[in-house]
Amino acid sequence: MEQSHPIRSAVDKVVGAVTGDGGPAEIPGVPNSAPPSLEEPTEPREPLPPKPDQSGPDTFSPTGQPTGAPQAKVAQDGAYLTTAQGLRLRDTDHSLKAGPRGPVLLQDHHLREKVMHFDHERIPERVVHARGAGAHGVFRGYGAASNITKAAFLGKDVETPVFVRFSTVIGSRGSADTVRDTRGFATKFYTSEGVFDLVGNNMPVFFIQDAIKFPDVIHAAKWHPDREIPQAQTAHDTFWDFAGLHTEATFHTLWNMSDRGIPRSYRMMEGFGVHTFRLVDAEGATTLVKFHWKPKLGVHSLVWEEAQLLGGVDPDFHRRDLADAIEAGAHPQWELGIQVFPDTPEQTFEGIDLLDSTKIVPEELAPVQRIGLLTLNANPANFFAETEQVAFHVGHLVPGIDVTDDPLLAGRLFSYLDTQITRLAGPNFAQIPINRPHAPVNDMLRDGFHQTAVHRGVAPYRPNSLDGGCPFTAGAAEGAYVEVPLEVSGRKVREAPASYADHFSQARLFWLSMSPVEREHIIAAYTFELGKCYEQAVKERYLGVLANIDSVLCRQVAEGLGLPAPAASQPLADSPPSPALSQIGQTWPADGRIIGIVAGDGNGDVAALGAVRQAVLDGGLVPLIIAPTGGKLGGTLPVQRTFVTARSVEFDALLVAGAPAPGKDAYGARDAKAAGGADAPVDPRVLLLIAEVYRHGKPLGGWGTASQAFSEAGVPAQAPGVLLGEDGTSVLRETLELLGTHRVWDRFPAAASLT
Ligand code: HEM
Repeated sequence: MEQSHPIRSAVDKVVGAVTGDGGPAEIPGVPNSAPPSLEEPTEPREPLPPKPDQSGPDTFSPTGQPTGAPQAKVAQDGAYLTTAQGLRLRDTDHSLKAGPRGPVLLQDHHLREKVMHFDHERIPERVVHARGAGAHGVFRGYGAASNITKAAFLGKDVETPVFVRFSTVIGSRGSADTVRDTRGFATKFYTSEGVFDLVGNNMPVFFIQDAIKFPDVIHAAKWHPDREIPQAQTAHDTFWDFAGLHTEATFHTLWNMSDRGIPRSYRMMEGFGVHTFRLVDAEGATTLVKFHWKPKLGVHSLVWEEAQLLGGVDPDFHRRDLADAIEAGAHPQWELGIQVFPDTPEQTFEGIDLLDSTKIVPEELAPVQRIGLLTLNANPANFFAETEQVAFHVGHLVPGIDVTDDPLLAGRLFSYLDTQITRLAGPNFAQIPINRPHAPVNDMLRDGFHQTAVHRGVAPYRPNSLDGGCPFTAGAAEGAYVEVPLEVSGRKVREAPASYADHFSQARLFWLSMSPVEREHIIAAYTFELGKCYEQAVKERYLGVLANIDSVLCRQVAEGLGLPAPAASQPLADSPPSPALSQIGQTWPADGRIIGIVAGDGNGDVAALGAVRQAVLDGGLVPLIIAPTGGKLGGTLPVQRTFVTARSVEFDALLVAGAPAPGKDAYGARDAKAAGGADAPVDPRVLLLIAEVYRHGKPLGGWGTASQAFSEAGVPAQAPGVLLGEDGTSVLRETLELLGTHRVWDRFPAAASLT
């Protein structure tokens, strides 16, 4: 990522000073680029440089011209506090008063400006996808799509800066990351031909086939309007009321109830453009495609109990994971892929309507062809300026990529600009630094709130002669965007095509493609969500929907709800499973995963612990040492978590270097996690860590006297993925191998009825 400003080398030096090794901090989460002094600094100095993992928007003018200015030149400047007008201030802690006890004087212009600005710091959150996290990166085209699209950024080895924002859909801006929900995956490509936005989700289908129903599905999924609860989740009556009556949502809802609804990390999600798009080559020939993002780290999920605990223990879990991974140098990567279909008048493939966004085309029928690589390599320097103000729009297209007649896409083409006028207070949001194109802009759009361009000339209209006729329209040869000249005709009706009436066959295909343990999770998710509904009618009606997916699924959920399982109301369509839909069965790299390491009794062998920690770092993972109190073990090894602050859900695997005796604070009045444990042989907080890691199916390694701790925690020594060894390094090696499959799936086999 561009970090051209000269202070960068200074950052490296400063951060080197933090860690003492000349490189970036080992453990991510450093608040700033230099360590604070104990005393309040009083010697005036320039602002600190940003952290080395951070970048801002590239410095382009509001009209898309590179300014060459260092990024720091759009940040605060100078050593002294000033007003917004640049006036230096002597005091900002006291209002101007008539005497020390007041009254405050109306003439205090500094008070007025400071509080006025603060009063207006908030802007409306997004009406959907309000909660999100962003990152900068680069996209490199493989050239593999150049035979079917003229889009320049997809050319071989063309590198394009990008900004990506991941999000949940339903919750408010401050809601928890790990709720069960769809995740947004929106990518802004700053191409040489203008901005292209791929505004997708981590699920390939949508709840509705026509955008006119978007307000309905969102009103149903969001909180109840009377009490404004529950926050950020679908486990309530209005959602299931709607979903049971509106069965075109069945397939998307099943994706939500599957493990895809609770991703382990944004880095471990697939992304989908959902709609079918039309690619156009230089000769005007067209091809239909569906876009996919394939994560290099594989697709992995939380288990439901982890997701729930994280909602309280670390509501920022996904945000933190993304930022920490980038800071630690574990830059997440995805390959962009396309499924390719001939552009026939029917716009179907193997009988699947390509204009129906509630349907997938199984990858076994149309393989995903890789056409480029996305790498996220820098964190935003300012969340509000970048992640909050970024404005995506499915209508931001470049030559070579056109839309189709999918009625869901048509509504989206209207919606995004519309909502951004309110959210970003006026029509000039394309001029906000994160939204500026990296291509020359001459749009004849003028004035409006927050106009930051200073346009010249007198003739922002066409045709004109007073500005010499400028701007001129371009032909396709000059890079103009030319819509594909398709024939359109039809009766004016408010109807859906007959092909849109099938709401169940692909949901069944998905169910049949799941491994037994994934089916268990789906059953549990429906049982949980419907179990949180109040109205029997809502539950009973939805069991009728489940019966049309699969009788085992319906029966198992009905049992959990204590209700009879209805029969299917239509024949079940059996199609061959699509193994690509399952998340289980392959191995993946474990870059940037978090390994908790519990120090042994009396801190154990610190040198050996240090060696394990270093091996974790060398493997590209993040080690967090856990000990009874903070500080440095043996005076050298920094403790990142204590028995008070550690909770298992933060770790992908746990290593235990012994059986630590209860810490001095291991009693219930101080820490409920330790209740009744002051006299226990092992600190109860460590036993809780072990028990949770075990039941969440995570690798659990131990050496020294750790076997005693495992047995106290009720963990069978012979259980799959429980690794007891002589020394930490060998246990770590086996642990890393297990992490390749994400979890130890055979620790808790599925019920025989599902296998
Ligand atoms: C395939 C279906 C859809 C997908 C994949 C999708 C995806 C997304 C994503 C990823 C975002 C967040 C963008 C960001 O990070 O800033 C978003 C926001 C939004 N979506 Fe959609 N969406 C879909 C359907 C719709 C429909 C049908 C509508 C309306 C008719 C709609 C309206 C909105 C609005 C209003 C926002 C907020 C935009 C903003 O404030 O900047 N979406 N959508």
